[in-house]
Amino acid sequence: MFENHVAPPPDPILRVMKEFADDPRPEKIDLGVGVYRTPDGRTPVMRAVKLAERRLLESQTSKGYVALAGDSGFHDALRNLVLGDCVHASRIAALATPGGTGAVRHAFELVRSIRPEARVWVPDPTWPNHEAILETLGMPWRRYKYYRPETGALDRSGLLSDLATVREGDIVLLHGCCHNPTGADLVLPAWEDIASVLASRGAVAMVDLAYQGFGEGLTEDVAGLRLLCRQVPEVLITVSASKNFGLYRDRVGLLLVQCTTPEAAEAVQGSLAWLNRQSYAFPPDHGARVVTEILSDPDLRAVWEGELTEMRTGVIGLRRALADALADDFGSDRFGWLRAQNGLFSRLPATSEHVAALRRDHALYVVGDGRINVAGLTPDTIVPVARAIASVLG
Ligand code: LMR
Repeated sequence: MFENHVAPPPDPILRVMKEFADDPRPEKIDLGVGVYRTPDGRTPVMRAVKLAERRLLESQTSKGYVALAGDSGFHDALRNLVLGDCVHASRIAALATPGGTGAVRHAFELVRSIRPEARVWVPDPTWPNHEAILETLGMPWRRYKYYRPETGALDRSGLLSDLATVREGDIVLLHGCCHNPTGADLVLPAWEDIASVLASRGAVAMVDLAYQGFGEGLTEDVAGLRLLCRQVPEVLITVSASKNFGLYRDRVGLLLVQCTTPEAAEAVQGSLAWLNRQSYAFPPDHGARVVTEILSDPDLRAVWEGELTEMRTGVIGLRRALADALADDFGSDRFGWLRAQNGLFSRLPATSEHVAALRRDHALYVVGDGRINVAGLTPDTIVPVARAIASVLG
């Protein structure tokens, strides 16, 4: 059975992770996988998480099963963080999933089971796993224009002209904030334009929200999403707590489905629970409970918000420092757009030869499409990274 088996090509992000780990050079620098790092290069357990875990350790009296869709306290806490009171909770079905990726997978599966002919539109470029999951599920999908490399900003007119061709019932996937891989976010007027195009064409919005709090702030980062939810009747939202709670390996995700009526939400809720049941039965609970504890306790929440603010401002500082160092090396502000982007990622205008040269000659690891994880920089690596970029791309 397996003699002639050929494995699928590795995910481009995870491949960099492995190649970096295998590189024996001590001076190597990892700007590959999207994880937050402290100035001394660690991905720490957040203080609020440690405190919440300590409380759980003391107070938890059972490890019995929860519910197929996960704990309703978790649904409420994270839904509130994301949507506030912009949509009545009775219109929203919710599912705890293993990480944001689990939510994305189940969102697509839900669509496929209800409307297999729906085309899913993804930004060009997008997180490679969006396209990989759609391919694996055999779903029809298209790319819409999103980014202008020359300006490092959104291609608003290209995006709107592509979305003007979506069909009724198609799904349009948007990144809630901190666009992965470009860092070029939708500005509020663009969210407004998109909401009215989708509403008028009868399309369903899907918003992948993996970095709330890493762009401009917890509320600012969901302003566009909330605007969309007010104007587009049906919205799928996939939420990850990997980054903003630092719970990467605990796999904490949530799928929210905004429906037109409470009755529709109830029916969708049943299908969501079934998606969990036939995938792995019950979703993981520990990380979800940590998030619930933090969001429900004002003191813990204040600690967490403080830490998140520190992480966000740190990354913004690194962006600026890299842009400044590149300006020094290039003698021009050619990379000035780095300062205006949001979140962990930006994309260098690099060819695959450039990426290979960065790795070979400078032990600098970036993803094959030129994506860098800005949070992987440290005060000590800004100058060598800028020099490496200038010597290879200059
Ligand atoms: C990334 O984009 O680097 C992260 O979301 C990690 C992943 O799973 O790809």
